[in-house]
Amino acid sequence: LLNEFSVTQNGFLPESVPLQRLPNPYYEPWETLIQDVSKLIEDGALREKVDQLPVLSTSFLHTEAEQRRAYVVLSFLANGYVWGGKTAAQVLPPPLTLPLLAVSSLLGLPPIATYAAFNLWNFSTTHPDTSFRSLDAVFSQHTFTGTLDESWFYSVSIAIEASGAHVIPTLISALDCASRGDFPSATLALESFISSAKHLETFLDRMDEKCDPEVFYHKIRPFLAGSKNMENAGLPQGVFYDEGEGKGEWRQLRGGSNGQSSLIQFFDVVLGVEHASNGGDGKGGVSFHEEVRGYMPRAHREFLEHVGSVFPGGMRGVLEQAKKERGELAMGKEECECVAAFQRATEQLAAFRGRHLQMVTRYIIIPARQAAARAQKEEKGVVNLATTPSAMRVTGDEHVAKVELTGTGGTALLPFLKESRDETIRAGEICR
Ligand code: HEM
Ligand code: ALA
Repeated sequence: LLNEFSVTQNGFLPESVPLQRLPNPYYEPWETLIQDVSKLIEDGALREKVDQLPVLSTSFLHTEAEQRRAYVVLSFLANGYVWGGKTAAQVLPPPLTLPLLAVSSLLGLPPIATYAAFNLWNFSTTHPDTSFRSLDAVFSQHTFTGTLDESWFYSVSIAIEASGAHVIPTLISALDCASRGDFPSATLALESFISSAKHLETFLDRMDEKCDPEVFYHKIRPFLAGSKNMENAGLPQGVFYDEGEGKGEWRQLRGGSNGQSSLIQFFDVVLGVEHASNGGDGKGGVSFHEEVRGYMPRAHREFLEHVGSVFPGGMRGVLEQAKKERGELAMGKEECECVAAFQRATEQLAAFRGRHLQMVTRYIIIPARQAAARAQKEEKGVVNLATTPSAMRVTGDEHVAKVELTGTGGTALLPFLKESRDETIRAGEICR
């Protein structure tokens, strides 16, 4: 079953290290640029080089590995093109637009760099024999900034995906067992999930080791941004994808974030966590979590849909059903133990989200406040938008510069992330 949905022994990561170069020399013009991308950005030369590219066809990409590689290369170049200048580029040129649209539609991805481009298909390892679970052994093939900080930032996610992989079959079996009435096995599987999730949390603590918050905030994260809710970063209409011959389209797409990780959303599906926030200021519309499924590789999105449709409401749904059928008082000891393990599992996932919130404070909130304070001092209260990091909106008068932060994924980050954590806790409460 897992194979069918491109889930490997490394979970949502591929079976082995992704292709590092397209084998067909036809694609040399792309490979030449990507191998040098951080240097070209630094020199302010990337846009010109991309403009000069020939328009290449995607029909010589013969395997899925090659398509993935092309997507990584082209979407990296696209984000580098948009954000690699003094102001954001509002138009992507045909040599980039045409093959990017083609290859992303083959993979079921949007034509922008996503979690798959930064993380899933963009890593390598220092030792071919070492598991990708070892954070010290993995590194990124490409970065925008050429910094170790950026490689480490992506590698933390690789280690999390790889280390979480073995709980995917465990959790499927938890659902399976519970729905067949085998509560002791389901309890064991949930316990195993809890200890794995605790282990995954320790990787968040390691972000600090090699990714400096100032470097992250000022240098790295501007390149992760999208074209949605980016009015104040110079993209009032999003980005125009110029297809040549007078054709093209304005698009507003979310930037990359680990919200696009299928692993974390898989945990939500299995436990029955329901996310309603659209990431913006108001309620309504499709939720952020639902929307970013469209930013996952097609097979992974289908996997989540499949699990969600076979087990509606996940573990919460199964347990509520059992409770309804038997009545609360008639619940046996084994069922009660399973309910308790389920609740501890939701608490653990909420704790992971709480730990993530602390990281957001350290890597976004504090550097943003410091930058705003510096700008205010220098400019006597008038914050210069041109020098403001891209994913940050500054409003208010000269006395109170109010900083409204936007995540690279386009959300009003703190209220959104707190809501997401609270929704995780609520899944457990329903069963209490
Ligand atoms: C979403 C920041 C690393 C998991 C978000 C969002 C922000 C953020 C601001 C809101 C979406 C948006 O971008 O608009 C950060 C920062 C990180 C970091 C500053 C490190 C410096 C990670 C890592 C994980 C992770 C390593 C590992 C799984 C998530 C998830 C979401 C999310 C699952 C979606 C919201 C949710 O489901 O609760 N992150 N993130 N993040 N992030 Fe991170
Ligand atoms: N989503 C993360 C941010 O907003 C990466 O910085």
